[in-house]
Amino acid sequence: MADFDLVIRNGTVVTAEHTFDADIAISDGLIVALGKFTGTGDREIDATSKLVLPGGIDSHTHIEQLSAAGVMNADDFHSATVSAAFGGTTTTISFAAQHRGMQIPQVVAEYHERAAPKAVIDYAFHLIVADPTPETLADHLPSAIEGGVASLKLYMTYDRLMVDDRQILEVLTVARSHGALTMVHAENHGMIGWMSDRVVGDGNTLPRYHAVCHTRGAEAEAIHRLIALSELADAPVLIVHVSTPEGIDQIRQARARGLKVYGETCPQYLFLTSDDLDRGGLDGAMFCCSPPPRDAVSQEACWEGLLDGTLQVYSSDHAPFRFDASGKLPNGAQTTFKEIANGVPGLELRLPMLYTEGVGSGRLTPNQFVDITSTQHARIYGLYPKKGTIAVGSDADLAIWDPERELEITHDMIHDNVGYTPYAGRRLRGWPDTVLSRGDVIIDDGVLHAERGRGRFLHRGGLASAIPLGRDVPEIRQMGAWGTPLRR
Ligand code: URP
Ligand code: ZN
Ligand code: ZN
Repeated sequence: MADFDLVIRNGTVVTAEHTFDADIAISDGLIVALGKFTGTGDREIDATSKLVLPGGIDSHTHIEQLSAAGVMNADDFHSATVSAAFGGTTTTISFAAQHRGMQIPQVVAEYHERAAPKAVIDYAFHLIVADPTPETLADHLPSAIEGGVASLKLYMTYDRLMVDDRQILEVLTVARSHGALTMVHAENHGMIGWMSDRVVGDGNTLPRYHAVCHTRGAEAEAIHRLIALSELADAPVLIVHVSTPEGIDQIRQARARGLKVYGETCPQYLFLTSDDLDRGGLDGAMFCCSPPPRDAVSQEACWEGLLDGTLQVYSSDHAPFRFDASGKLPNGAQTTFKEIANGVPGLELRLPMLYTEGVGSGRLTPNQFVDITSTQHARIYGLYPKKGTIAVGSDADLAIWDPERELEITHDMIHDNVGYTPYAGRRLRGWPDTVLSRGDVIIDDGVLHAERGRGRFLHRGGLASAIPLGRDVPEIRQMGAWGTPLRR
């Protein structure tokens, strides 16, 4: 009879703060000893020459979600979480999506029913609020937050999802009083619609016009306005998928004033540009997401935003649609850029691509890599320290990373159900060979060992204690744990 369920020996442990050589003992799904200790495991893994990282947390994913236009994601909770696990991610936060007219209790119940029998890793939900009726605000939102869905998402664009400024204020007020964090898709709806109608009217329908019409100014204007609303309501906001230097500057200035404004960027804004949308025929649709990929200057601004702490989290915004009439191209060959299903896949490649381009190039230390791919997600969304770190008492969610493993990306190596990857042909250096979720080895040398439905729902408490309310709170003025600059 061994002392522990599992011991990982001889690895280099990397957390957001430290890098150190240590063995890790795991029992009952938890890390129970770290460093040098006596005792053996029922199973032992030799991690010589490997890095042992906290499993990734992807806090922006669309899984088995029905779009407002009625298109179902290509990934269900099984294919998405399997794909996540292969790429070293051990927690997803995806959306339970209210569309107008839907009742939130029913929406949340439906997403629980979808996820519970299929997920192979732990998961949580954010709640998309598209219809903030008086009953929703008074009863349904507080109940959903009480039920562990402690973050909300609002859209400032998309005909069928968007809320107006007053509605944003109403939702922020409820979020504030119940300790929820509100995420916002910030683009100016009128600017995009006006541009799109003119451009299509002139007969320009190809995917590349998607990038033209989602103007950079539409992002900056909406972020600016949102920050004013957040300041008025004195409620924190996290702006998702930020893509432009102008948008990042808005967040930087707000944070410098002590406002509780957080930001996220995604692989598509670091690794793609609008040129990718400009391919023959409709091929560019594979790269259409909102906001669109921009240019080299914007890529640099996103890197800089991550490095100086303006943007705290790097998420995939995995929005999986197949490249056919069931997904990307609802009107087949006649699909104009206005009808293309929005979003790109990225759940499995999020970590290896950032490791390759960030750590491999020397832009990021391994600690910074862990911080923006795992630890900050756990802190901001109320999962820390259960998730997002390697410490005694934390869940044994780990990615044992081979920093030297080299491979070329092909779509058939990816385990999602999308059928293509926007990143085909790129070379990677660094890949998670072995992945653990609550102490179970769910990926072992490229083989899945995870039962459907083993993933657990992560009930998150209201975030009031995590994000103090009030601009005069000193921790917030100093940006505390949530905005500690990575560099400078
Ligand atoms: O196109 C993107 N970014 N994702 C899917 C829809 C959304 O905006 O959430
Ligand atoms: Zn969005
Ligand atoms: Zn999204």
